[in-house]
Amino acid sequence: DTLTGKILIYYNRIRNEEGIDLIEHFSARIKSDESMREKCVRKGLPVNAHSALKELTDSVGIRLISGFIDDVYRNVEEIRKIPDIRIVKEKDYIRRAKENGYRSYHMIVALKTPFPDVDGNNPGEYFAEIQLRTIAMDSWAALEHKLKYKKNISNTKLIVAELKRCADEMASTDMSMQTIRDMIFENEGREIGIRSTEGYNETASGRG
Ligand code: GTP
Ligand code: MG
Repeated sequence: DTLTGKILIYYNRIRNEEGIDLIEHFSARIKSDESMREKCVRKGLPVNAHSALKELTDSVGIRLISGFIDDVYRNVEEIRKIPDIRIVKEKDYIRRAKENGYRSYHMIVALKTPFPDVDGNNPGEYFAEIQLRTIAMDSWAALEHKLKYKKNISNTKLIVAELKRCADEMASTDMSMQTIRDMIFENEGREIGIRSTEGYNETASGRG
């Protein structure tokens, strides 16, 4: 939809201009009626369209997965610059990981629409939740999510502890990978626009 379209615009621009591939892959989802209803009830909200679209802010969800931590933050910066977007809330679970080891950068954004919204505002506005993370953080979150929704698991305590250990090891590896990439592109960074011959078009320009 329009938000993913706006993200793809800057993604393609940066890939062409700087040779940096900021997104490994992304996914978008619209929350199902059932889970919106369930969440309204859980939050003590009346179950109606206003609650679903104006009180809950994650009826539209987008996930951007990057290869490196710096790219996650560059995406955050670029999203902030998108016209007609208002940043409602941000949570940096990368700098400040959750106790279970969860890492991700979350943004709640509000987007203007050229048509009225459920409250009759024109231009309308709708919310979306953007989750930004590295590949390592993403595979961890997927596994941890399974733990939450699966019943009758034995050894929960051990699993939780092992997940935490993995999260911390992966975070440390993400940082090492970032450092190695910076080292590889350290020299070339001074020559703006240099490209690899492998077709993976990357430069270190703009990375600190
Ligand atoms: P809800 O959890 O949606 O009620 O909102 P919140 O106010 O707690 O927001 P938060 O930013 O903490 O989480 C938003 C979303 O991020 C969740 O719905 C999950 O999709 C994801 N998330 C947050 N914490 C975790 C976690 O510990 N593990 C996993 N796998 N996903 C998480
Ligand atoms: Mg939560």
